[in-house]
Amino acid sequence: MLREISLEGKTALVTGGATGIGFAIAEQMIDAGARVIIVGRREEKLREAAAELGDKCSWYRFDVSETEKHAEFIQMLEKQSPIDILVNTAGINNKKDYFEFTAEEFDTIVATQAKAPFMLSQEVARYMKVRKKGCIILISSLAALLGMHEIQAYTVCKSGMKGLARSLARDLGPYGIRVNSLNPGFVYTDMLRNTNLKTPERLKEIEERTPMRGFTQTKDLGMAAAFLASDAARFITGIDLVVDGGISSSFLI
Ligand SMILES: NC(=O)c1ccc[n+]([C@@H]2O[C@H](COP(=O)([O-])OP(=O)(O)OC[C@H]3O[C@@H](n4cnc5c(N)ncnc54)[C@H](OP(=O)(O)O)[C@@H]3O)[C@@H](O)[C@H]2O)c1
Repeated sequence: MLREISLEGKTALVTGGATGIGFAIAEQMIDAGARVIIVGRREEKLREAAAELGDKCSWYRFDVSETEKHAEFIQMLEKQSPIDILVNTAGINNKKDYFEFTAEEFDTIVATQAKAPFMLSQEVARYMKVRKKGCIILISSLAALLGMHEIQAYTVCKSGMKGLARSLARDLGPYGIRVNSLNPGFVYTDMLRNTNLKTPERLKEIEERTPMRGFTQTKDLGMAAAFLASDAARFITGIDLVVDGGISSSFLI
């Protein structure tokens, strides 16, 4: 088991890897032996993260919503080292009243949270297909399981990621490529702080509604992603792995 769970010799590309969940995924994958490439838009965040992650981490400033640049970027990375694992963590949210949401705002969310992971996975899978192996992880959300307040565009995308994992698992499985989604539950990152939960009362409410009490920690996601990417999960594909302390599977009154 210890041998199978190792990521020694593998290279992972983690989008959004400079902060929050993506950072923890990069950290745990490095801990399991992988070499990790992190990408994001803010150079200072990438520099800070890479300094913390050490010499098994490299970084590139890359906006995943610029899908026209995907092919060239992935070709450049593949020349350095084959990408064994892709984790599509980059994401944004916009919490807003449904009736106020504009078409432009919708397009912005979709560009980063749906179109980018769809197209980037396609580009990376072109190379994995030739090698007959690879692992792709998409990030879904409780919004794909439960109706959540004022995050409709985000919900469209995250439900899409859960579905896309199933669909790609079906079509890429014959090429040895596994595709799963990872469902984080509530994680207290910048995204949650800025867009969803603000007041202490609301935080307490979530904690108390969670059967395991408290919030999912970023490390919980890091370890789950490292497991999904490892040979220990060699026959796991098409699932939505929920790491939420039981909140989505319980009806607490
Ligand atoms: N926190 C939660 O409770 C929760 C729950 C369910 C799902 N999620 C999902 O988990 C993922 C990570 O979110 P997080 O909570 O860790 O928040 P976060 O710290 O805000 O992480 C988002 C990351 O995505 C990067 N990013 C955003 N747009 C990008 C773009 N166009 N190109 C490249 N990188 C981009 C950001 O870096 P730059 O701004 O520098 O580009 C940042 O590093 C997201 O997909 C989110 O939807 C979070």
